[in-house]
Amino acid sequence: MVNITINGKIVQAEEGEMLLSVIRRLKIDVPALCHHEAVEPLGACRLCMVEITKEDWNGWSKFVTSCLYPVEPDLIVLTHSDQVNEIRRTIMDLYLARHPNSPEIQKLAEEYGVLKTSYEVQVDGDNCILCGICTRICDAMGFHAISLVGRGHGKTVAPPLDEPPPDCTGCLSCALNCPTNFIEFSDQGNKRTIWKKDFEMLACVKCGATTITREFAEFLSRNRDIPFEYFETCDACHRKETSLSMGRIAAWTKEAQS
Ligand code: FES
Repeated sequence: MVNITINGKIVQAEEGEMLLSVIRRLKIDVPALCHHEAVEPLGACRLCMVEITKEDWNGWSKFVTSCLYPVEPDLIVLTHSDQVNEIRRTIMDLYLARHPNSPEIQKLAEEYGVLKTSYEVQVDGDNCILCGICTRICDAMGFHAISLVGRGHGKTVAPPLDEPPPDCTGCLSCALNCPTNFIEFSDQGNKRTIWKKDFEMLACVKCGATTITREFAEFLSRNRDIPFEYFETCDACHRKETSLSMGRIAAWTKEAQS
């Protein structure tokens, strides 16, 4: 463990752990749109930028993305210095021009006092901020069904050739973790559709509620050694079953002790 100073407070941190983890532990609110605990950091959004210096840097400081900067002894970190806030405002300004219709971007920009972009608004801009969380999570799950495609303004996330991706199992990891809700899907009855691909949803054998897609259940039982039948009961019924069993064990223990 080493000592570092964050916003004037001395804290202990593991040498080598990323600054953003320490900042988050301290519950300091630093925007980090492309960060997700489950995947390797990418440093794409630049919003987690902080100012760092050390006693022996003779007054010099530099700006680093905290999600990618490893802790070093004696670092002095400012998460909201005037210059850091100005950098974040500039990034928000650019985001607002590129994604004028994203409520998530509007809200974040507003928190930094950016109500209107000073750049030309890209009227046909979509809500994909190219954070890469969806593709990294999909890769981490082992599917590799989507990737970042295109260039410049046209860059976005999509499956190969924009066709239903053969490797997608309809798990929704991409859509549920997208910070701007760009990835659309629909669940209707026992049919899920995402990336123009249809999936059959399994129905709970006890209450009839849908659980997960057949493809995802097959993938999990094949690769994670979870029996397929497990996915034929929904979470609520699993919980109910567990609580009933616990009740029976408690009653039996009480009986045995009396
Ligand atoms: S969270 Fe660090 S660059 Fe996006």
